[in-house]
Amino acid sequence: MNHVAVVLAAGQGTRMNCDLPKVLHTLAGRTMLGWVLEAVGAGSPTRTVVVVGHRAEQVRASLPSGVEAVEQQPQLGTGHAVAVALADSPGLAADAVVLVAYGDVPLARPDVYHALLREVEAGAAAAVATASVEDPAGFGRILRDEDGGVAAIVEDVDADPEQRSIREINAGLCAFRAGELQAHLSGLKPTNRKGELYLTDVIGALAGEGKRVSAVEGPWEELMGVNSHYQLARAEARLRERINRRWMENGVRMVDPDRTYVDHDVVLEPGVVLYPGTHLTRGARVESGAVVGPDTFVESGHIGREARVWYSVLREARVGAGCQVGPFASLRPGTELEEGSKAGTFVEMKNTVVGKDAKVPHLAYLGDATVGPRANVGAGTITCNYDGYSKHRTEIGADAFIGSDTMLVAPVKVGEGAVTGAGSVITRDVGPGELAVERSEQRNVPGYRERREARYRKQSD
Ligand code: UD1
Ligand code: MG
Repeated sequence: MNHVAVVLAAGQGTRMNCDLPKVLHTLAGRTMLGWVLEAVGAGSPTRTVVVVGHRAEQVRASLPSGVEAVEQQPQLGTGHAVAVALADSPGLAADAVVLVAYGDVPLARPDVYHALLREVEAGAAAAVATASVEDPAGFGRILRDEDGGVAAIVEDVDADPEQRSIREINAGLCAFRAGELQAHLSGLKPTNRKGELYLTDVIGALAGEGKRVSAVEGPWEELMGVNSHYQLARAEARLRERINRRWMENGVRMVDPDRTYVDHDVVLEPGVVLYPGTHLTRGARVESGAVVGPDTFVESGHIGREARVWYSVLREARVGAGCQVGPFASLRPGTELEEGSKAGTFVEMKNTVVGKDAKVPHLAYLGDATVGPRANVGAGTITCNYDGYSKHRTEIGADAFIGSDTMLVAPVKVGEGAVTGAGSVITRDVGPGELAVERSEQRNVPGYRERREARYRKQSD
């Protein structure tokens, strides 16, 4: 249905008590405003206007293309915000429909917006989404007339004790016939405890004129507004539940979905297994048969078929099919593990490609390196890639064997099938098949312990 969508996002979010604009807090990897825009966008409005104000530039910068921003300065209330949004729409026909969404209602699904639009299309002057809640404190209450129609909305701070006991609240989503809305916006008065121009007063004014205002009742789980960090956490838990449920219905196994954190843009194949404490963020992809977690953080990147990743942190890393990662590995941006390779216990990698079936099983740092197929990198190996000024590369050939505790001082190359002796500091290239040992010869001192004990006994006599 043809309509203009207005999303209110100019408020400071005082009750969040923090610098970040309220609507930019993220839930499952998407901003609160992003969730609202996604749901509103599903109805294909002819225009979408976001009202920005507090930290306007920051909010504006978060908007997807095709969405307009209008600045509201100062912020005089939700009614004022809608008036500012429509000020730029002189051609708006009186019978057009205006959909209003508050930027702090992230759980509402497209159906509720559709239902509001349908009511106005069917002849109502306005429609509001309402929910019945256990604890309505802080929200606007819905006053009904004798016939059950919506008579007015009274804000929590302005309500008398009897009105406060009403449990049906205004969720903050509504639709209006444009002509009716505009006629009343200009007449709003800040005669309330907050001294604001309330959009909700338009509802009362329309009903007072005998116009029909419909209520679209919905479940609180979908309509809750976020005004505090507590509510933000509750809302995020509900979004996670939706996301996790969708993946489980699609064949993903989650051992404990309440402790599995999957962002909205993550892609999982059927047959993936996720253990508790797994965080998959920023578009990470996991292929069928991969087992991830417990306690693993993955930021973007990719985990291939049948790979096993546990107790690890992966950021923009690509893990091939059948690879093993962890426990306690840190794979930083630019890391690529080819099929069947391993980054084991306490291994850190950055900008490093590990070839097919190569192994880095324990305690190592590889940065700016390539490791050839089937090579083995011993415990304690470090690529000394930084000389204090710039980074240099280390190249390890196929089938090479890097002895434990080898320091590879980059730039350096170790050839195919070459070996480095344990404890060596390698500063020069090693040719294919060569052994490079760099350490002083071992000296054994006979009778040492005996002499030492004798000296000690003499001193303590
Ligand atoms: C509002 C409703 C209340 C409803 C509740 C649902 C009004 C007067 N009250 O109260 O009935 O139960 O939402 O969550 O509408 N905003 C602007 N410009 C302004 C003021 C606010 O853009 O000048 C934006 C805010 O950024 C926010 C939204 O409007 O996204 C709602 O404002 P908020 O201050 O959260 O209103 P509530 O007190 O929650
Ligand atoms: Mg609010």
